[in-house]
Amino acid sequence: MIAAPFSQACENNKIPIVEQLKKIFTTTSKVLEVGSGSGQHAVFFAAQLPHLIWQPTDLTVNHYGINAWRNELPSPNLKPPLELDVSAAWPVVQVDGIFTANTLHIMSWELVKLFFQGVGKHLALQGRLVVYGPFKYQGQFTSESNAQFDLWLKAHDSARGVRNIEDVVQLAQSVGLALTSDTVMPANNQLLVFEKQQHEVR
Ligand SMILES: C[S@@+](CC[C@H](N)C(=O)[O-])C[C@H]1O[C@@H](n2cnc3c(N)ncnc32)[C@H](O)[C@@H]1O
Repeated sequence: MIAAPFSQACENNKIPIVEQLKKIFTTTSKVLEVGSGSGQHAVFFAAQLPHLIWQPTDLTVNHYGINAWRNELPSPNLKPPLELDVSAAWPVVQVDGIFTANTLHIMSWELVKLFFQGVGKHLALQGRLVVYGPFKYQGQFTSESNAQFDLWLKAHDSARGVRNIEDVVQLAQSVGLALTSDTVMPANNQLLVFEKQQHEVR
């Protein structure tokens, strides 16, 4: 039996995030999670949101962990992970919810653009996109720890980094999404909600 990978950050943020998701995904039927990572969020959110289907995805290399968590804490509405690399074709036709946590600062900006192209293509009209993670505002970090985190990210890979919220909102708008809320979360993170209000505008 493979041990399920444990992330302390996921353990700390899963309750504040799900409290928001319960208000955001009230009428949502299927959520595609991009970059599920350890799978800890997927098992918890699926159990807490039994009215919807939770579809975890990530690069195949991370599927063992997601499956280990599914074996430990199965839910009837939690699907097996699918391979989703934002730079390739997405394994779904359409969903009415998309969730991603702590991914936009890991992907290069080119990959972030492809992420939003995928969202524009696969999110239904009136569907909601939820993005959780740290952001800058007009180039300013919201905390010294986020500034240090950005330096640490770039030391590992210069293409990584905490994104400017204005750039992210602009990308979202280019695929028909509008920012409907921006909530301050614990540990200097934000939870952004976007709604698909029109078909892709290019
Ligand atoms: C910092 S982890 C976040 C994992 C989890 N969502 C969390 O909050 O703990 C970033 C995730 O993005 C995924 N990722 C990186 N590049 C990706 C890509 N091109 N397409 C899809 N996911 C990608 C990684 O595999 C990893 O699981």
